Amino acid sequence: MEIIDGKKISNIIKEEIKIEVDQIVKNGERAPHLAAVLVGNDGASLTYVGSKVRSCEQVGFQSTLVKLPYDTSENNLLKKIDELNNDKEIDGFIVQLPLPKHINEEKVLLAVNPNKDVDGFHPTNFGKMALNMETFLPATPYGIIELLKRYKINTSGKNTVVIGRSNIVGRPISILMSRKGNPGDSTVTLVHSRTINLESFTKNADIIISALGVPDFINSSMVKKDVIIIDVGITRVKDDSHPKGYIIKGDVDFNSVKEKASYITPVPGGVGPMTIAMLLKNTLLSKSLKK
Ligand code: GUN
Repeated sequence: MEIIDGKKISNIIKEEIKIEVDQIVKNGERAPHLAAVLVGNDGASLTYVGSKVRSCEQVGFQSTLVKLPYDTSENNLLKKIDELNNDKEIDGFIVQLPLPKHINEEKVLLAVNPNKDVDGFHPTNFGKMALNMETFLPATPYGIIELLKRYKINTSGKNTVVIGRSNIVGRPISILMSRKGNPGDSTVTLVHSRTINLESFTKNADIIISALGVPDFINSSMVKKDVIIIDVGITRVKDDSHPKGYIIKGDVDFNSVKEKASYITPVPGGVGPMTIAMLLKNTLLSKSLKK
């Protein structure tokens, strides 16, 4: 069994980005600039956005964090998005999800200029992704593709089972794994909460990509020998013995499955760190496309 080390790969990607940024600055241009909008005080979202800002500093990007109170109106958020759309100094921005319930997420995502949508969530960019056109790939699926590529995992003709049909991970990674090329060329099955006899699919999978958010959902009895496992789950589970009061758990019972798997991503340190690295890569792409 080989562990797919997302922390290591994400650091390599950040070093590659830093080299490009240094060159941009040396040429007299300004560094790429990423902004993040955070509405409210959700603990996990604060952590993610904090990591995004720190990673920007690591690679020499400029970053702006726009923090809005939980009770911000939809209109005020849309106004802020309009400002960011028109700010020539900002190459890309993200609106951290989930948003408070009184704000219509679809309206917000549609308001982001697709040329600055480094999350790849706008329908224009999602459509381009599905059609295999150059665009911003959503960061988590992009990170999975990059891990498979850098570990030289052959996905062609393999049975890939994706668990979960979210717009952010499950649906886009199912599209990317079935498209032409490597990584890709997989025979993809997308299973979800309404799937009957889910185990019958996971047991026949060569590759399992799980984005369900149920800790330890997958155990060794549900997988075949030499399976490749990509665990996208990151659930906070209460644990008073830990200083933070919680631990992070993946969808996969790592200890149960590790002897059977040929490759596996750990949680934490697998897909998670890749998401931020790929967001930075999208921001770099956005700056280069503006020329
Ligand atoms: N919430 C969970 N994942 C993401 C992500 O990739 N982007 C944004 N904007 N919000 C998220």
